[in-house]
Amino acid sequence: MMRRVLWVTIAGAILMTTWAASGAAAKPGSTKKSSFGKTPDGEPVDLYTLTNKNGVEAAITTFGGSVVSLKVPDRSGKLGDVVLGFDSVDGYANNTSYIGALIGRYGNRIGHAQFKLEGKTYTLAKNNGENTLHGGIKGFNKAVWTAKEVSAKDGQALELTYLSKDGEEGFPGNLHVRVIYTLTDSNALKMDYSATTDKDTVLNLTNHSYFNLAGPGSGEVLSHVLMIEADKFTPVDSGLIPTGELRDVAGTPFDFRKPTAMGARINADDEQIKLGGGYDHNFVLRRKLGDPISLAARVVEPTTGRVVEVWTTEPGVQFYTGNFLDGSLKGKGGISYTKRSAFCLETQHFPDSPNNPKFPSTELKPGERYDTTTIYKFSTEK
Ligand code: BGC
Repeated sequence: MMRRVLWVTIAGAILMTTWAASGAAAKPGSTKKSSFGKTPDGEPVDLYTLTNKNGVEAAITTFGGSVVSLKVPDRSGKLGDVVLGFDSVDGYANNTSYIGALIGRYGNRIGHAQFKLEGKTYTLAKNNGENTLHGGIKGFNKAVWTAKEVSAKDGQALELTYLSKDGEEGFPGNLHVRVIYTLTDSNALKMDYSATTDKDTVLNLTNHSYFNLAGPGSGEVLSHVLMIEADKFTPVDSGLIPTGELRDVAGTPFDFRKPTAMGARINADDEQIKLGGGYDHNFVLRRKLGDPISLAARVVEPTTGRVVEVWTTEPGVQFYTGNFLDGSLKGKGGISYTKRSAFCLETQHFPDSPNNPKFPSTELKPGERYDTTTIYKFSTEK
């Protein structure tokens, strides 16, 4: 018996030494903090690597609360990265495509860069033609968030907080924002968003991860098979602002109710497809009455068998096929991020809701609490 314990100890010690010496993947069921460099202003930025019991790993930086890498198994059990990202903070500081980042105060667009609240007009920066995109010039994606490791029953968790001051980027109210990322032991990356304000404001928080389930650098995502739980979508004008209509997907290239390859209709002779340069549209999610969180979308990558399901409490999801990626951004390992080499499924309230009284409201008042959850669940198929 003694001998066996000794053996196990020696074997354990050898394993630990090899693991430490190899600098390889972190210990299952752990979170590791390391430096990720400094911002152009000299502010230190950290990288937290969360590893669950199965060795699945999510690396998250305090710069923009961005998901840097996400390593999940393929159908043979081999771990591989499934998101675009950069090797250090410099990449994120120059990241014009919001790759992996937390988005706020208002994810997606606000038309004509203004909105009215309580009879007062608020003017924002026009950083996307005539409109405001993803919070303005310095959105939450360019902020350094405060990080704290927190305990989770079912995995590894990291809490990120940020105070967006009254008037920041033109938005009213001191907004205290908290996002908890949990990498669960069932291979899901969960995002719990909450916020409070001291003045009436609008907000729409999301994460802007770009996925390629075959791995970044493996070409276009057009053979990924997608299902979206939506009977309607919000058609847009030439500035990608919703017209206000909720249009049936039936009979259009936007019908993903049955699993369909992303590329099957992406070049269709369709006005909306042309306006988006592919898919860049908000889908109106079907909700099951009483269900606090519902399935929004499911994607299967046929060669690796990797599957991601998106679950959310939000009423919409932006399906974006990376139409504006043009190869000028170089990511991890020097890979050029080319057109349609990744897709996004950004859970959200509808774009331009502050100017559309018929859309679900994005208003938050003092004394109320903003609370949303989105989960990306990974698995495989034969
Ligand atoms: C928008 C795209 C935009 C991209 C930013 C998406 O959420 O809908 O139009 O280009 O984010 O990189």
